[in-house]
Amino acid sequence: MAGRVEGKVAFITGAARGQGRSHAIRLAEEGADIIAVDIAEDIDSVRRFYPGATEADLAETVKQVEALDRRIVAAKADVRDYGALKQALDSGVAELGHVDIVSANAGIFVFGEPAQLVTEGDWQDVIDINLTGVWHTAKAVIPHLIEQATGGSIVLTSSTAGLKGFPGVSQYTASKHAVVGLMRTLALELAPHSIRVNSVHPTGVATDMILNEATFRLFLPDAENPSREQAAEVFATTNALPVPWVEPRDISNAVLFLASDEARYVTGVTLPVDAGFTIK
Ligand SMILES: NC(=O)c1ccc[n+]([C@@H]2O[C@H](COP(=O)([O-])OP(=O)(O)OC[C@H]3O[C@@H](n4cnc5c(N)ncnc54)[C@H](O)[C@@H]3O)[C@@H](O)[C@H]2O)c1
Repeated sequence: MAGRVEGKVAFITGAARGQGRSHAIRLAEEGADIIAVDIAEDIDSVRRFYPGATEADLAETVKQVEALDRRIVAAKADVRDYGALKQALDSGVAELGHVDIVSANAGIFVFGEPAQLVTEGDWQDVIDINLTGVWHTAKAVIPHLIEQATGGSIVLTSSTAGLKGFPGVSQYTASKHAVVGLMRTLALELAPHSIRVNSVHPTGVATDMILNEATFRLFLPDAENPSREQAAEVFATTNALPVPWVEPRDISNAVLFLASDEARYVTGVTLPVDAGFTIK
């Protein structure tokens, strides 16, 4: 049986681990080849919260996609560096022939202070990666999609923080709201080319980004050494459905749907995969 994205090529940023790796695997399971990029190193403003992905992580994504008998071209590139990102994409397209699906997934989570206390550096890193990096991804890929004239699907990863305010998380929340504005504008600009653009809005996802003590402390400010179990209890109170967080594959299934022809008339949509977080 043909896969749901058989014969397509997907460009995924932040593919070394977490949701990006899961998207690569899920799309490959359904027949896509993959162009994967990741910075695969620590980022200064993030290091105090959780460790960065590594080159070994990116190599593991390659291994897992190849185990599915799909092709993957992976490169180390920083989404802040437009030239490097474009080169990684262009090499992937040269090798795999085309690009049809885009997952602008790379992002960082930096938080903890009220807005007036956020440092210039922390603000800038989050905006540069979570917003400008997403624009860079779109800027690099759109000329390919228009030239191919075979349509396409671009999925921008936002967050529930792209739909609601979060005290103590101003830079991240601002960046993720801005992604929605970019998504809506791109959806209009690219509709005449049959290129669809949507955003996904996960609640907490079980990845290194939130399964760490710094994030547990955001939810349990009074606990001395908050455990995963304690954090799970508090996280669960934020969702309508009785789960503390969702799995990367839950987001991948939404990305797969938006990437597939099943969503051929879905564009400009903000799709929460949030266990009911945003209706609470
Ligand atoms: N985990 C959550 O709870 C959650 C919730 C909502 C939205 N998100 C968003 O989902 C996306 C994926 O996050 P995740 O949960 O998989 O976290 P993660 O930290 O496990 O993965 C993020 C990946 O992006 C890469 N990356 C970061 N900065 C980069 C850069 N400048 N250039 C290239 N790659 C870079 C990292 O190296 C890492 O591999 C992010 O945009 C995040 O903001 C996460």
